[in-house]
Amino acid sequence: MKITADCLVIGSGIAGLSYALKVADAATVAIITKRTMDITATAMAQGGIAAVTAGDDSFADHERDTMVAGCFLSHDDIVKMIVAAGPQAIQDLVKWGVRFSSSDGIHFDLTREGGHSHRRILYVKDVTGQEIERALVEAVRAHPNITVYENHIAVDLITEAKILQRRMKPNRCLGAYVLNIATGEVVTFGAHTTTLATGGAGKVYLYTCNPDVATGDGVAMAYRAGATIANMEFMQFHPTTLYHPHAKSFLISEAVRGEGAVLRRADGTAFMAEYHPLKDLAPRDIVARAIDSEMKKHGDDCVYLDITHAGAAYIKDRFPNIYETCNSFGIDMVSEPIPVVPAAHYLCGGVVVDEHGETDIFNLFAIGETSCTGLHGANRLASNSLLEGAVYGDRAAQRTLSRLSEKCPPYPLILPWDSGDAVDSDEEVVVAHNWDEIRRSMWNYVGIVRSTKRLVRALRRIQMIKEEINDYYWDFKVTSDMIELRNITTVAELIVRCALTRKESRGLHYTIDYPETDDIRCKQDTLIRKTF
Ligand code: SIN
Repeated sequence: MKITADCLVIGSGIAGLSYALKVADAATVAIITKRTMDITATAMAQGGIAAVTAGDDSFADHERDTMVAGCFLSHDDIVKMIVAAGPQAIQDLVKWGVRFSSSDGIHFDLTREGGHSHRRILYVKDVTGQEIERALVEAVRAHPNITVYENHIAVDLITEAKILQRRMKPNRCLGAYVLNIATGEVVTFGAHTTTLATGGAGKVYLYTCNPDVATGDGVAMAYRAGATIANMEFMQFHPTTLYHPHAKSFLISEAVRGEGAVLRRADGTAFMAEYHPLKDLAPRDIVARAIDSEMKKHGDDCVYLDITHAGAAYIKDRFPNIYETCNSFGIDMVSEPIPVVPAAHYLCGGVVVDEHGETDIFNLFAIGETSCTGLHGANRLASNSLLEGAVYGDRAAQRTLSRLSEKCPPYPLILPWDSGDAVDSDEEVVVAHNWDEIRRSMWNYVGIVRSTKRLVRALRRIQMIKEEINDYYWDFKVTSDMIELRNITTVAELIVRCALTRKESRGLHYTIDYPETDDIRCKQDTLIRKTF
């Protein structure tokens, strides 16, 4: 089966949906998404979206906070561009129906998070992402030019070089092979532009607050197709996820600390003042490392986040989702501190793109967490990611619209997917076992504090698993588990290889072998590309 559209969008979070809405008046759009449209990291975002909207705030302050949090690896021009585009991005979201919290119905309520010098984060209680996703999904469903394919997972990109079996510079993207999960059929999607908006890769780690769909699909596919990838060593660990065996690392928003919550040891003493002048609102890499160090020093399984001073009425109104979820696990955050641990949260690296979200493969875009735009540097400033997703949804749409007049007829040579002699697998246990082993190795050897020895150990294991997957991949018909395993293995390898390349500690990459930041030799992005 073959489907064609002007624009193929892979993923359905804030970046993918806002891009689709911006091009859809002039182009046909096919959105594919692995589950239902609203199962995304965007929908799970709690804290909010950073943008300069208050009179006492300024673009210069937001830029400086972003650069400081990113340990001066962020690209100055990109930071300036995104910060300046913030107010318009907010207006677009409001136009699509997002109802940000506003006590007086005129001004947005603003909260604070780690690393921000001002209250500048727009929010909707503690369910900001859910509200953004709701509004965008409704707008997309109402648009006649957009067709949504749920329960579809991309297998691989289709490029000119792949079809013609030779090197091409620049290479061009022509669409993607996509598995219909319900029927098992691999469908060919041909498109003028293809946009990767597949989110992050938290599932590469054993503990993550990401949704199950966060398996780094966009990064892995772009890498296999020959696009440049950068800064994969910078996986952000969120300092505070709920410590409970059944809570699946449920996020306790940084906005809770923004509203005065304090991190405490088991004996009740506050400890962040010992690590940073901004205490509990220090940048995230510093808070996560402090918690890791406290847990190791005292042999504790978790630390505690205390907002009991705020009172029942305030807590229940401001954080209804967190309050209810904690309650369902027997924790009353009104009267007791919440047990918390760090967990994998956000991938700051990704597919390298220009200022319009285009990769080094022509007509292939990457936006949102899948991309590396230069905004986040070595450590993302809290709530800058929804902003980046919305801004790049727009930037990529502008470039796409400017190219629509050059649209070529559908590429004649795209062959349908060939599964050769592949048969149905009777070895699903191999997939499950390898999933577990990758995630465990990443957690144990490539976590908050690293060493060269541990990284090398992880790389050896990952490479063995990769070989096993390769054999398995060609022998059996593709399944979504198999596709995701192949992708997390690729992403795991990229993280480790980038981490081994960076011979210093900066932001989210901390190694005991090079504990200092080396601005002379290492103040640059880590770039990685497949050699064919
Ligand atoms: C949070 O609510 O703490 C997450 C915000 C973010 O990661 O930007």
